[in-house]
Amino acid sequence: MENFVFCSPTEFVFGKGQERETGRCIRKYGGTNVLVLYGGGSAVRSGLLDRIRGSLKEAGISWQEIGGVQPNPIDTKVYEGIELCRAQGIDFILAVGGGSVIDTAKAIAAGVPYDGDFWDFYCGKAEIQAALPVGTVLTIAAAGSEGSGDSVITKTDGMLKRGAGSPLLRARFSVMNPELTQTLPAYQTACGATDIMAHVFERYFTNTPEVEVTDRLCEAVLLTMVKETPRAIAEPENYDARANIMWAGMVAHNNIVGVGRQQDWNSHGLEHELSALYQVAHGAGLAVIMPAWMEYVMPHNPMRFAQMATRVFGCQMNFAQPEETAKAGIRAFRRFLHGIGMPISFSELGAEEADIPKLVGKLGIPEGKKRAGFMELSAEDAANIYRIAAHAVLE
Ligand code: NZQ
Ligand code: ZN
Repeated sequence: MENFVFCSPTEFVFGKGQERETGRCIRKYGGTNVLVLYGGGSAVRSGLLDRIRGSLKEAGISWQEIGGVQPNPIDTKVYEGIELCRAQGIDFILAVGGGSVIDTAKAIAAGVPYDGDFWDFYCGKAEIQAALPVGTVLTIAAAGSEGSGDSVITKTDGMLKRGAGSPLLRARFSVMNPELTQTLPAYQTACGATDIMAHVFERYFTNTPEVEVTDRLCEAVLLTMVKETPRAIAEPENYDARANIMWAGMVAHNNIVGVGRQQDWNSHGLEHELSALYQVAHGAGLAVIMPAWMEYVMPHNPMRFAQMATRVFGCQMNFAQPEETAKAGIRAFRRFLHGIGMPISFSELGAEEADIPKLVGKLGIPEGKKRAGFMELSAEDAANIYRIAAHAVLE
């Protein structure tokens, strides 16, 4: 196991009706004048936003609102938020929604005290040195942004989707009421589940030896998702299924299952270009990319894939030919994704094989260089993975 420092300071307020605690939580973390950020309308329709307003009023907190944050959030909302925060002397940002709303809140939080363009943090020009405090009320189990120090934003000029990370971006508190996810359509539930599993796999496929505890934690989250996702899709109001998925989504991405080991993140890198180009859900893009990536890199360490196959998908171990077990595990993962209604190929996603050179170009891997990861990837490797994804079939 490698050395690590792990600090996850977010207060998680989990369970039925916990959104009523929002005002009290903001007060606890020093907020008095708040920007409330939300998405395209689900929080309005469900009555959640009204309950949040009530909680703020009760706590004597003043607030401004910005709605209309879109999935795969874009920079223009961030600029709008930064301007409003500065003009109104906002001292706390509350995100009510999913990863897109939370990531926008984090970008605004980092942008307000910064003299330059907030995009500097996302294109690697500057490091975040200060940020307004952020709190979240989560409405979809997926991105894990409620517990992570990351934010992913798309720059509309060039449709570049990029991430920034800093411990300063971790939420002060996250309200997690699984009931709030009962209104999710089956498709969004499945997209979220795919993202959660991908967050675990990005950590699971490692070159670091002897990481038994995090291996086992990863497998626990994956097994939970395999069991609970079909249950939540079949019974959208099943509180226990929703609760297990919601907590799994947080555990998958606050890095408790990833400490002390090298991680990968190339499937996410390749997927971000897809969701930026085609405006598809991040989880749906991952359903197409991740099994393709697995097929391509599996020969790098078949035993690690065979371990996943036997422990997560119950495949029989073939000791003479572990590659066969590994392949069976990848097939089982793809069948699982198909079974929950996810696309598995470019055509099902609405992506074009002819765009592969464009996708690879946007990855920006310099000639002769490779992206770090479980297996280092050249631009040609990335193109090969996109090609596998383009032609993937169910076996
Ligand atoms: O906008 P509204 O109307 O709220 O609808 C949303 C949206 O259309 C809907 N939704 C959310 N909660 C709902 C609901 N519909 C009905 N009932 C509810 N309770 O779901 C749709 C998707 O919402 P979004 O916030 O986009 O989903 P998600 O949480 O999957 O976030 C995706 C974004 O997070 C980024 C992704 O790249 C993508 O941009 N990621 C962020 C990460 C992070 N910050 O750590 C890590 C991830 O790997 C990921 O890259
Ligand atoms: Zn993700």
